Amino acid sequence: FKVPIVENEPLVSYAPGSPERAALQAAIAQMEQQLPFEVPVIINGVPVKTGKLSKQSIPSDHARHICIYHEADEATVARAIGGALAAKAGWEAMPWGDRAAIFLKAADLISNKYRYKLMAATMLGQGKNVWQAEIDAAAELADFFRFGVKYVEELYSQQPSKNSGGAWNRVEYRPLEGFVLAVSPFNFTAIGGNLPGTPALVGNVVVWKPSPAATYSNYIIHQILSEAGVPPGVIQFVPGPPPEVVAQAIAHREFAALHFTGSTFVFKKLWKDIATNIDKYKSYPRIVGETGGKNFHVIDKSAEIRNAVLQSVRAAFEYQGQKCSALSRLYVSASAWNGGFKDQFLEEIAKIRVGPPQDFSNFMGPVIGKPAFDKIIGYIQRAKEAGGEILIGGSADDSKGYFVQPTVILTKDSNSVTMREEVFGPVLTVYVYDDAEFDTTLDLINTTSEYALTGAIFASERQALIQATNKLRYAAGNVYYNEKCTGAVVAQQPFGGGRASGTNDKAGSIAIFYRFVSMRSIKENF
Ligand code: ALA
Repeated sequence: FKVPIVENEPLVSYAPGSPERAALQAAIAQMEQQLPFEVPVIINGVPVKTGKLSKQSIPSDHARHICIYHEADEATVARAIGGALAAKAGWEAMPWGDRAAIFLKAADLISNKYRYKLMAATMLGQGKNVWQAEIDAAAELADFFRFGVKYVEELYSQQPSKNSGGAWNRVEYRPLEGFVLAVSPFNFTAIGGNLPGTPALVGNVVVWKPSPAATYSNYIIHQILSEAGVPPGVIQFVPGPPPEVVAQAIAHREFAALHFTGSTFVFKKLWKDIATNIDKYKSYPRIVGETGGKNFHVIDKSAEIRNAVLQSVRAAFEYQGQKCSALSRLYVSASAWNGGFKDQFLEEIAKIRVGPPQDFSNFMGPVIGKPAFDKIIGYIQRAKEAGGEILIGGSADDSKGYFVQPTVILTKDSNSVTMREEVFGPVLTVYVYDDAEFDTTLDLINTTSEYALTGAIFASERQALIQATNKLRYAAGNVYYNEKCTGAVVAQQPFGGGRASGTNDKAGSIAIFYRFVSMRSIKENF
């Protein structure tokens, strides 16, 4: 069989008066009435209530909680690993068509049955507005599973291109020997599904530790995967105190891979811990990670100003700047800045409404929690102390929810702290360069930050695009021309970056699947 061509999940607009809007509002209202939900650990398909309770708060109203979850303790993590290893032989032996069907069914369940529930959990629990929840928890998640099936089929069909006569050369794509540890972030529900889903698609068993701040939406994904037919034990859902669960898993002899999205700091720490444990393992573990960013837009003198303004507002402030791809340093030519960019930019930002996501007129919601709130405020303060000028925003209020106003800092120091370090919040730093210094500005962009995730160049002169592309060859894994640096679409823009931003294994493409298979070559003589 051959999997038919799949399409990206069509986006719903939630226009006022539409049935989809009414259905989503009803799902949110129902969830608000029923919360907090109780979330167990799930081992071998069975809920386990450890009694070690933790809470996921609602960032727009932190006195309330979306769920109370059971944290895995040491014995539970040990059972999760043992159960996954016991499920491995059966999962690996399942015909590929059946594994494919399970993930295609999961995508349809997301699209048709659980869309509003998943979105409501993402909006309330992670503070996303309706459209940010739609592109994430509905569209991207379904796309990861559907295109994942397509890519695995493509992978399996790749065979040696030559026989040596009187023989047949072939390769098998085995899953890794052992189990995969998936450690997922709060900021994309879709990544919650993709980190365990990708290795499982090629026959691996997975121990999945979700982010504490996305426990509820991720639990719903686990339920969807089970309903679609992922057998018990294949993906173990193990919320828990992150350091303990992860440390225990990476100390295990059968630890085969880490599939991680999160901070650079934590990823580097895990890499070192894995190195320390290297003699314990049966095989060299695969380490796949997508981490931070310090993403840029360059607005050339030839840029179309209106487009550059609107794209920059969206890239910096959608989801409160909490995307690893978010725009956080903006380089604008003096003629563009003074020729309309500055005025239009500040005018657009002044229109942004900040508030709870249940009110669909709010463009921005809360940041994820108290530590994030404090860190963001700290960066604004440090930027001011270093001579940065706040052009708009700068204020914040955490009395009910963790709300930070969209903030723009103008700096004359291209190497200032908020030009270098990831803030992970709605804070954008602007550096205005002389038109004549386009080339040296490209050098600055390349060397100022340790990250290399995304970037965009706005120019109508092709020479400027070419010059920037050449100079910034390794400064971003995803580059956009005249388009914002966020919002990569599965199967359209494979996503990931290098340097301190990750191993650049490209989610949303075939490349990532190579990391979770171990090929076996077979030569048969006739
Ligand atoms: N893949 C997400 C984006 O491109 C992070 O914005």
